[in-house]
Amino acid sequence: MALERTLSIIKPNAVEQHHVGAIIERFEKEGFRIVAMKMAHLSQQQAEGFYAVHKERPFFHDLVKFMTRSRVVIMVLEREDAIAKYREVIGATDPAKAADGTIRKLYGRNVEENAVHGSDAVATAQFEIGWFFTGNELS
Ligand code: RTP
Ligand code: MG
Repeated sequence: MALERTLSIIKPNAVEQHHVGAIIERFEKEGFRIVAMKMAHLSQQQAEGFYAVHKERPFFHDLVKFMTRSRVVIMVLEREDAIAKYREVIGATDPAKAADGTIRKLYGRNVEENAVHGSDAVATAQFEIGWFFTGNELS
């Protein structure tokens, strides 16, 4: 296992429903260290670029609309095996299919409004962290 960093976003539905504190507390209890954190209302350009990998998917337009609806909390989280561990803690993309106790099961509304984002690989994490944070903010 290696020390890794992952990019976490608390999505608009979870911020709107006042779950920011509970979600951050859960990540800390799961052993993640917060390396950097900011709140932002994403522009269309920021959301489209961030999710560019999905631009041919049928849900892309709705996803960008959702992610730009209101503010999000963006964090860089670090721990051993962070990428896989984070995805275990958040659960499956569709909250209805997520395991009991996972963040998406607890705070997700549906497959789109699923409360949180997490990187899915080391290379993706590097791109996603660089999309939102400068080297200065990470040192
Ligand atoms: P994320 O990237 O946000 O951590 O989620 P993920 O890896 O579990 O899922 P991914 O396939 O990367 O999808 C990105 C986000 O798009 C929305 N989505 N909507 N309407 C739909 O069928 C659908 N499918 C995916 C979700 O917000 C999902 O997290
Ligand atoms: Mg993904």
